[in-house]
Amino acid sequence: MENIKLNNGVKIPQLGLGVFQIEDDKVLKQAVLAAIKAGYRHFDTATLYRNEQALGEALAESGIARDDLFVTSKVWNTVTTYDGTKQAFADSLKKLNMDHLGLYLIHWPKEGYLEKWRALEDLYSQGLVRAIGVSNFEKKDLDTLLAHARVKPAVDQVETHPYYQRPELHALLKDLGIAYESWSPLGRAKNGALQDPLLQKIGQKHNKTVAQVIIRWHLQKGEIVIPKSTHEQRIFENSNVFDFALSADEMKQIEILDKNESMN
Ligand code: A2P
Repeated sequence: MENIKLNNGVKIPQLGLGVFQIEDDKVLKQAVLAAIKAGYRHFDTATLYRNEQALGEALAESGIARDDLFVTSKVWNTVTTYDGTKQAFADSLKKLNMDHLGLYLIHWPKEGYLEKWRALEDLYSQGLVRAIGVSNFEKKDLDTLLAHARVKPAVDQVETHPYYQRPELHALLKDLGIAYESWSPLGRAKNGALQDPLLQKIGQKHNKTVAQVIIRWHLQKGEIVIPKSTHEQRIFENSNVFDFALSADEMKQIEILDKNESMN
């Protein structure tokens, strides 16, 4: 899988497996082991998802060296203090059975996020996490954070899919040198993008599924992308996107599908 470099020089596999809403341990383990077989080395979880322990167990079972894995977790909104954030991080590490994480994010810009950021900065300087970042931060939140931060966030993970493309946030993050990571890149399968006629047409042309076209589109926009699936065949399908390219014209056509429509 292709890597991209974060603003601190750390490499992250551009495609990862999102494990949001996979709460059944057995289902999660099967999905993670399938993903390892398909070549995924990057996994995106959060305290909120309640599957860090099962993820840690599956990764240990996979036999892949820890240094070859990139795991992201996130501190949840109920934690609002510096000490609470450090404790939450320690709990996540313990559940994942790891001595450090790839990336740790503030899940939402809620109460205490500047305090929380200070804790992330300290975890980062202690070498307990390779990069730190934020999730669901809009321009105003980033402005406030950057006015106080010692360490610039490496990543902002936000909702993005063909019907919610966020060109302004894209431009802003590019200017700031913060990597753009998209959650629910397929529109959670419920917003209809997977049935979109234009995407179907483009898929037919390349002999690829709509999901593959959408993931490829994210990759070509330079985003880090974490599609979720519990089905082995789809996990493979979603990773089989490095052997074709969308043309500049196809990228333009997809741009026009934007409805600025969040699912939140
Ligand atoms: P499932 O887990 O049953 O495979 P997102 O990452 O945008 O949140 O989308 C995840 C949703 O899309 C899940 O409901 C997942 O279902 C479904 N999904 C993931 N990959 C594919 C695919 N290749 N084709 C169709 N649906 C998919």
